[in-house]
Amino acid sequence: MNKIIIVSIAVLANIFLVSLRYEDATYVFDENTSIAATLEKLGDQAYTKPDMSIPGVSAEAGKELMLYGITKGPKGKKVAKQSKHFVCTSCHNVVKEDPDLRSADPQARLIYAKENGLPFLQGTTLYGAVNRTSFYNGDYEKKYGDLVKPARNNIREAIQLCAVECSQGRPLNEWEMESVLAFLWTLELKMGDIQINEEDAQEISDAVNGGGNEKEAVDLLKSYYLQGSPATFVRPPDNRRTGFNDIQADPENGKLVYNLSCLHCHEEGRYAFFKLDDSKYSFKHLDKHIPRYTRYSMYQVSRWGTSPMAGKETYMPNYTLERLSNQQLEDLRAYIEQKAD
Ligand code: HEC
Ligand code: HEC
Repeated sequence: MNKIIIVSIAVLANIFLVSLRYEDATYVFDENTSIAATLEKLGDQAYTKPDMSIPGVSAEAGKELMLYGITKGPKGKKVAKQSKHFVCTSCHNVVKEDPDLRSADPQARLIYAKENGLPFLQGTTLYGAVNRTSFYNGDYEKKYGDLVKPARNNIREAIQLCAVECSQGRPLNEWEMESVLAFLWTLELKMGDIQINEEDAQEISDAVNGGGNEKEAVDLLKSYYLQGSPATFVRPPDNRRTGFNDIQADPENGKLVYNLSCLHCHEEGRYAFFKLDDSKYSFKHLDKHIPRYTRYSMYQVSRWGTSPMAGKETYMPNYTLERLSNQQLEDLRAYIEQKAD
């Protein structure tokens, strides 16, 4: 009797193993294959997943929180608005925004934004955020100090830091946090997002199938996208009258910056009290302040941002060099000057 049980367990286990191996052997990926799942198969770290067992957690609720700041709670009641001033998409895209995920090139992103009808913003896209291993990189430590430490390698803490500090809102509670994470998982990177060549694709596929070096395959796959969004803080030009005068400015490019970035928040006062539009009045106002040491100078607001006004708690985030280059800043200036003329 015992023998029979042992034999049948052995047979079952064997069938199970064979089927696993069979699955592995047929591992081929297409453009929709998850990059995180592939890395996990190759023995890389486990990426942070939402706890879907908490009542009320859903990707849909997370999406509503991020896009509108409100949703319905587990008992069907509307939650209090996350922030009075902002939604996550005031500052972040939720789709791919860089044509090549290996670099954080602001000019390539600006053109991509124009072609795809996207805004060009201070915060990095949350598309692929679940695939990153570090957050608030580079100089963000300067801005948020010790607050960055717990958030540096922890996506939940990164989200919470942004909900409270960037959004100037209330913290997310547990089911809301897991819902935001669940929504972010719908924005994970897929094989089709990277420009992998056939040879490398084969090497990764072989490694998953047990016919290659897993560690090398992990590194190879990761070489196709940035593991974190780099951030370099820079100062306005020393002389605001002359600006960066070694740069040949292109007003047409500056127009893209104005339309896809500045107007995203300032048109009709969407996310800011200060209004900007296409009128001569807007451009004259901006133009007049360019050389001044006030928050109305485009040099100053772009590079330093603003701090919250008393009682209003709204502020403008600064642009890092990776989000707006000095060339683009001069292009914006040239556009403002042209339109103010
Ligand atoms: C007022 C602008 C603003 C708002 C609103 C905002 N963020 Fe951010 N967020 C930023 C900036 C700036 C950073 C700095 C790092 C970066 O994105 O380059 C950041 C960073 C992050 C990061 C880390 C990204 C990384 O790769 O370093 C996450 C995650 C994040 N925000 C999530 C959210 C969520 C979720 C919301 C809504 C609840 C939100 N943010 C609202 C501006 C904002
Ligand atoms: C993510 C949203 C956002 C973007 C993008 C943005 N701003 Fe702002 N900006 C704000 C907020 C919020 C304030 C704070 C004052 C307010 O609410 O009007 C502000 C303040 C300013 C001020 C000072 C106004 C004052 O009353 O103190 C100027 C000038 C300004 N922005 C210009 C620009 C320009 C030029 C661009 C494009 C390069 C730009 N902004 C992009 C949100 C944004």
